[in-house]
Amino acid sequence: MNNKFNLYTSLSFLMFVTLFVSCSSDPDSPGTEYMPDMYRSPAIETYVDYGEIRGKENKSYKSILSARQTPKYTVPYVGTDEQTVKMMLPNKRKAGIAWRESHGLYGWDLDNVSGYEMSRFDTVNPMVMTADNASGILKQGEKLYSSMCMHCHGEKGDGNGPMIQSGAYGDLGVVPAYKNLDTLSEGKIFHSIYYGKGFMGAHSSLLNKKEIWTLVHYVRQFQIDGYGKFEEIAEVEVNQETAE
Ligand code: HEC
Repeated sequence: MNNKFNLYTSLSFLMFVTLFVSCSSDPDSPGTEYMPDMYRSPAIETYVDYGEIRGKENKSYKSILSARQTPKYTVPYVGTDEQTVKMMLPNKRKAGIAWRESHGLYGWDLDNVSGYEMSRFDTVNPMVMTADNASGILKQGEKLYSSMCMHCHGEKGDGNGPMIQSGAYGDLGVVPAYKNLDTLSEGKIFHSIYYGKGFMGAHSSLLNKKEIWTLVHYVRQFQIDGYGKFEEIAEVEVNQETAE
């Protein structure tokens, strides 16, 4: 009995002491933490970095995004669908002859920004648009476009997006209307999205190749009237046939 009484007294005394000692006068401090690992993961986190490695705080790592570029030459795994596989190039890799042929990137040096000039005639979109997939591609294109491009290029591709209208970019650069760039090859459009051009940043780490080729289709649709509208043409033909 006496023993039990002693145990309870010492336990409550300990609790009492802990209660007072664990607080801190700093209003931003959580005080003494019970199991700090539950609050701060000891693992390096992709987007949230406390600069903490194995319990030690490293000032130089604090507030730096630890999201890294994909290692060179890695090929994203996209399943086994041939069309989709063809769309994927190894990350930042100079395309070899075999790659160029299989991806339609003739004469295109993917490591080199001057590849822009080389990607002129023969680079066509390997993502072939057909009546069956057109609406799906354009729908996906619209989704990507509205989250990554529209703020500069505008909803209608006229180069007058909300970012430009706001004047935030000042005289830094003029965003061209896609309509005035209708002689651009698909390879050049891909190249400019991948590497960036002028004051448009590179999107190679934000979009995969399939997404970029999807956007190339979406951009084309601003340049060529009726682009991707297979159904309507087919319908018109059917109507004509029935009218005859
Ligand atoms: C920060 C604003 C900005 C964003 C975001 C942006 N662009 Fe651009 N874009 C520009 C500017 C400015 C140019 C003109 C570059 C030049 O010729 O100097 C341009 C040029 C282009 C061109 C013509 C390239 C050429 O070879 O002449 C295409 C195509 C294009 N952008 C597509 C896109 C797509 C698709 C996206 C979204 C993934 C996008 N842009 C995101 C500002 C932007």
